[in-house]
Amino acid sequence: MFTRRQLAGVCAAALLATPAAWAQTLEAPASTYSPTVGQQGKDVIWVPTQQALIDRMLDMAEVTQQDYLVDLGSGDGRTVITAAKRGLRAHGIEYNPDMVALSKRAAANEGVAERATFEQADIFESDFSKASVVTLFLLPDLNLKLRPTLLDMKPGTRVVSNSFMMGDWQPDASVESGPTANCSSFCRAHLWIIPAKAAGVWDLGNQGQLELKQTYQALEGTLTQGSRAIPLQDAKLKGNEITFVADGKRYAGTLEGTRINGRVDGGSSWIGSRKNSG
Ligand SMILES: C[S@@+](CC[C@H](N)C(=O)[O-])C[C@H]1O[C@@H](n2cnc3c(N)ncnc32)[C@H](O)[C@@H]1O
Repeated sequence: MFTRRQLAGVCAAALLATPAAWAQTLEAPASTYSPTVGQQGKDVIWVPTQQALIDRMLDMAEVTQQDYLVDLGSGDGRTVITAAKRGLRAHGIEYNPDMVALSKRAAANEGVAERATFEQADIFESDFSKASVVTLFLLPDLNLKLRPTLLDMKPGTRVVSNSFMMGDWQPDASVESGPTANCSSFCRAHLWIIPAKAAGVWDLGNQGQLELKQTYQALEGTLTQGSRAIPLQDAKLKGNEITFVADGKRYAGTLEGTRINGRVDGGSSWIGSRKNSG
């Protein structure tokens, strides 16, 4: 895992062709501002995500035109602009006002200024709760600082981080930028899908009583049917979709607040009502 020092250390390598070329294409003729890879940022320096990895990040988040993407620390705007070119509404929050101006010019040059918007702000003082996709390329400790806010976002929201992890919150998937990308550093991204809050006791009617303990998207617990306490297997959440196996039967359901609507083995339906939240 890269540290703050390593992030600075790889900047020299990152100064190679791609970022400089991108910065030039972003420059409107009227501007002389030209960012430098490794330049100081408020909480982390600017290093751009390689275009091939941005494409993979958007692919792994399975973005659609209905999504609203927010890039936290949007740099020269490349992730936001790439998303807007796919038809999404996308927004960048960036502390450096010159980078914000550069990003706005780039969005206009690319013909996506209506869908790609930018604001000068501190990500730690911004409300990005309406995002359905959050992208970030920050640092491990900054990700950890954001983690409680991210975990409180709407279940199913996708969070994609270039390189850096979220402490003990394991990603749902990881991807490399790919062999043809010619990438030497920061070539891996991780996806987390915000899980619904499922911990507690649920009344499943004639299916019994479900007790769940939750660690991020991982679940464990028991389904009690009469005097039998059946341990759950393969219990997990993907957004608000809950799945587990009990007594050889596969339970799948959709959790909405205090209710789960589910099916057993794809057949008979069950309803879960929350009795308490553990
Ligand atoms: C490593 S760069 C990533 C840029 C862009 N997201 C990308 O992937 O190409 C991090 C960016 O975060 C910005 N930044 C640092 N601290 C910030 C803060 N507190 N609020 C907003 N932006 C910040 C920096 O100026 C820099 O542009």
